[in-house]
Amino acid sequence: MYSSSQHSETSAKPSIVLGIESSCDETAAAILIDGKLKSNVVATQEIHTTYGGVVPELASRAHQEAIAPVVLEALQQAGIQQHELSAIAVTAGPGLLGSLLVGASFAKGYASALGIPLIAVNHMQAHVLAQFLSEPAPNFPFLCLTVSGGHTQLVWVKSALDMEVLGQTEDDAVGEAFDKGAKLLGLPYPGGPFIDKLAAIGNAHAFQFPITRMPGLSFSFSGVKTALLYFLQKHDPAWIHEHMADIAASYQYTLIQTLLIKVREAVSQTGATELALAGGVAANKGLQAAMKEVAHELGCNLYIPPLAYCTDNAAMIAMAGHFLHQAGINHGLALQVNPNMKF
Ligand code: KG4
Ligand code: ZN
Repeated sequence: MYSSSQHSETSAKPSIVLGIESSCDETAAAILIDGKLKSNVVATQEIHTTYGGVVPELASRAHQEAIAPVVLEALQQAGIQQHELSAIAVTAGPGLLGSLLVGASFAKGYASALGIPLIAVNHMQAHVLAQFLSEPAPNFPFLCLTVSGGHTQLVWVKSALDMEVLGQTEDDAVGEAFDKGAKLLGLPYPGGPFIDKLAAIGNAHAFQFPITRMPGLSFSFSGVKTALLYFLQKHDPAWIHEHMADIAASYQYTLIQTLLIKVREAVSQTGATELALAGGVAANKGLQAAMKEVAHELGCNLYIPPLAYCTDNAAMIAMAGHFLHQAGINHGLALQVNPNMKF
């Protein structure tokens, strides 16, 4: 005789979720088996570097070319046959309309052919749930600062399916502020990592840029970028070149301080003891160090997932899909993309 636990272990079918991400300039697919990551394939569109920003029409076309090979690669790397899939999770927004449609159309066709559930995932919620792709993961409730090229949000995460945006940017995202500042300094796109590298060898207090103080937990980053523009207009190219590292360090310092003021406020409002960082800007060394200091000062545990899970990826989409699938959610073929999707 088998005990009931042995019975359920041997007979329970694993939950195998395929995640698909195509909201911006990464075509990505990942496989998660019972919440454990088995493959994570990302094809980054290089074409946009020529233009200094993402060109929506080119992004859609590149997604169309990459999506089938990327999904196949994810299945192969995980050693999974398509008929073994339990569900497909796809980014439904926010993002570029054309890009979202490529992923969603592919996912609809695939889910319908396989006769399995199709789950719409909110890209920003998925960034938060990327915390569960690595160990240690934060305990609920936690406060997540999501910082990317498109978004800057403070999210209060009560559970995987219950989160609330406490504050967000009213204009540019912090990643955008990094990239626009880098462009003004003549650095390649995306410029965030270049500012980060220069800042490491510069003096963050050499120059002062204004911190825009917004009401509540909102952010604004367009003013500091304009301040940098005016600052650079006052100096000649040779002087700028000579002081590049100090300018980058001072600019980065201002962006980080703008974030930290609100993190402190959010911790005090929520009483959070668990703090997490998500999104591509989480790669910034200066931000990581500053967040560690703040977490230590406030007595919070800090979680920063490996970079591959912070930048746009499909593992986080599969993870969000896994939680939604466990909750019995199936959007089916009625799934609709929404470029401005809110939480
Ligand atoms: O999350 P992500 O890969 O894509 C979006 O959803 O936007 O984030 C990309 C953003 C870009 O703005 C890029 O410049 C920024 O993250 N970024 C950085 C660093 N690495 C990436 N910003 C500052 N420092 C970095 N080390
Ligand atoms: Zn993103």
